[in-house]
This record gives sequence, structure tokens and C-alpha cells, in this order.
Amino acid sequence: MTGGAGFIGSHTAVSLVNAGFEPIIVDNFSNSEHKILAGLKQILGRALTHYEADCNDASEMERIFATEQPMGIIHFAASKAVGESVEKPLMYYRNNLNSLMVLLELMPRHNVRSFVFSSSCTVYGQPEQLPVTEATPRLPASSPYGNTKAMGEDIIRDCVASKMPIRAISLRYFNPIGAHPSALIGELPRGVPANLVPYLLQVATKQRASLTVHGNDYSTPDGTAIRDYIHVMDLAEAHVSALQLLGQKDADSFYDIFNIGTGRGASVLDLINTFEEVTGITLPYTLGPRRAGDIEQIYADVIKATEGLNWQTKRSLAEALGDAWRWQQTL
Ligand code: NAD
Ligand code: WQD
Repeated sequence: MTGGAGFIGSHTAVSLVNAGFEPIIVDNFSNSEHKILAGLKQILGRALTHYEADCNDASEMERIFATEQPMGIIHFAASKAVGESVEKPLMYYRNNLNSLMVLLELMPRHNVRSFVFSSSCTVYGQPEQLPVTEATPRLPASSPYGNTKAMGEDIIRDCVASKMPIRAISLRYFNPIGAHPSALIGELPRGVPANLVPYLLQVATKQRASLTVHGNDYSTPDGTAIRDYIHVMDLAEAHVSALQLLGQKDADSFYDIFNIGTGRGASVLDLINTFEEVTGITLPYTLGPRRAGDIEQIYADVIKATEGLNWQTKRSLAEALGDAWRWQQTL
């Protein structure tokens, strides 16, 4: 797994071990810290093999493929800050697309068949109909980051269409939040968090004075924007299901796409209220204007994932916020 020391990757490592896989972590620690590996070691009772390497480094990746002979790749490694991608588009295209192509080129040479790609609900933009299914048309991305996810999907689709011997799945994640219930691993925010839950957690610890709700004049029941927040452990388990499905495929070439969300939308105020109920903390917040580039609402249709991946979410929004809060208190 590339990006295995990151937020979603580290939680997926736990789920993979629980399911009997042996994950090998490749990460350049551009957005993680070694303490995540220490947390993983404590959860699992043993260390996982890891390489501090950049997946854009084809010769280093070639050595890792040759040494480890992986049965499959889960490609999490990417730069993911939407705002930063607008300022540094080339850095995003290079890191997110070049790393993908390096891996796809190595796979046939080392007889690696299975590939799981971290895509995003960002590829849907503001859909006309909700919930969004995988057949809902993608819309032009509003950021270079979003573009890298749409282009990444297309690169994989074209490789499979060319009869390259790979079997691939793109998982379109909705909004992952939460942490492992042990509070030994979780999301590491960098600088001032742009995302709702990391910001809210820092308000709860009084690192920040108040939360601004970006917009309360949307056409939603309480006027605030709606997203599909999924517990990161539920998201992690979807990767196990995806790898298992790919392992069952006889065909040399296979490609499919799955939405990975809960199927339920929650507003910004729902999140604040649930956090307050779970923790007993009163969150100071103010209602502010809409944030540029934001969509009003999105949530997933998860029928295809439920049936096709034999997977479903098990954890509630309250559990996710409680787990995130316990992790935050360790930082
Ligand atoms: P993250 O930043 O926590 O994890 C990514 C990891 O990849 C980090 O540990 C980073 O150090 C590593 N990395 C980055 N570039 C690398 C490179 N060139 N070589 C080796 N390692 C590299 O992010 P995350 O939230 O865990 O996201 C994982 C994936 O899921 C990303 O592809 C992201 O775009 C995608 N995704 C995330 C979200 C979200 O809201 N978190 C939503 C949809 C999709
Ligand atoms: C959620 C809601 C904000 C902060 C981003 C990426 C997307 C995907 C998921 C990777 C919105 C509101 C936020 C705050 C607020 N990532 N908000 N006050 O915008 O759905 O998506 O993460 O693929 O590509 O763009 O998530 O957590 O930033 O915002 O009111 O201080 O919370 O306006 O309505 P978003 P988010």
C-alpha cells in the first residue's frame, strides 16, 4: 500500500491484517509522521514492513516490487489539499498522476494483478440528482486536485481497455472522518485545517476560538451544506472487500468503480449537534458566508458497493465523532 502511513492508509492496514493480509507500507512521510507507525505497532502487537520511499521514484519502487512481490496494490499516496492544488497545480499533477503511472507500469512487469485506487466524490461536482450513483455523470473538477482524481480514473480505465493484465477498482470516497477506536492512530492535521471535522476538533480543544459555518442559506432543511461523512474504519474495510473481489476475478482485465459512503447526508449543524451530544462540549460557532467552490449537498447511493463488494458501513456518525475526539485529545 502506498501512502500507508496516511489517515486512510493506516486504518486500512489494520483492517487488512484483521482480514489475514500482510500489508507492506510505502510512504514518503510528506503528510504523515513516524508515530503513526508506532501506533499501528501498538494496535497490531507487531511492526509492519515499511519503506520510506517516494512512489514517483521508479527505480526504488522497482526494487520494492522485486523484494516484496506484492499480490496487489492499494494506491493511497497523493497530495490532497484542494486549496493548495489551486496554487501549485503542477505539484499536484506530478505527485498524483506520475506516481499512478509508475505503479501501473511496474505491475505487469512483476505480475501484480490487483489495483485499488483512491478516488473521490469530488468527481461528481454538484450532482443534479441525489443520492449519486456510479452512473451519475462526472462534472468538470473545480480544482487541480479534483482533476487528478478524474484523470487517475481515466488512466486506469484506459490501461484496462488496452488489455493490460490488471484488475482494478476505483473507490470514490465520500467524507472520511473518525479514528481507530484505540485512539492510537488518526488524522494528522497540517497547519490550519480546511476540513470541517479537523477544524471542529481544534475548536473543541480551544486551539481555535470558534468554528465558522460556511453558509446557512442553502436549500437544505437547516440551510447548511450536506455531506456523507463515513467512519474511516468503515472506509478501510471497503478496501479489504475490493481486494477480495479482485482476487476472485478470473479475467485478466477488469475495472469497476464503487461509491464508498454511508448513503446518509448530514448537515454542518447536524455534525456540530452530534459532536456536542457525544462529548458534552459546547462548541462556539458563528454563521458565515458560503465558502467559494463549495457544493450544496452530496451523499452516496451505496447499493452497488453493498451488493458488489459485499460490504456495508457499521458505525454511526456519533461513533465517528467520539473516536475522532479521543484521538484529538492525544495530539
Ligand atoms: P493522507 O495525506 O493522510 O495520506 C496520504 C499519504 O501518502 C501520506 O502519508 C503521505 O505522506 C503519502 N504520500 C504522498 N505522496 C507520496 C509519494 N509521492 N510517495 C509516497 N508517499 C506519499 O491522505 P488520506 O486522507 O489518507 O487520503 C488517502 C487517499 O485518499 C488520497 O489519494 C486522497 O486523495 C484520497 N481521498 C481522501 C479523502 C479525504 O477526505 N481524506 C477523500 C477522498 C479521497
Ligand atoms: C464539509 C462541509 C464546508 C470547514 C473536501 C474536498 C473533497 C474531498 C473531501 C478528497 C462544507 C463546511 C468546513 C469549516 C464549515 N477530499 N465547513 N466550516 O468540502 O466536502 O470536501 O474533503 O477527495 O475533495 O474538497 O469537506 O470537510 O472541507 O467541508 O462550515 O470550518 O463543512 O463548507 O460544507 P468537503 P470539508
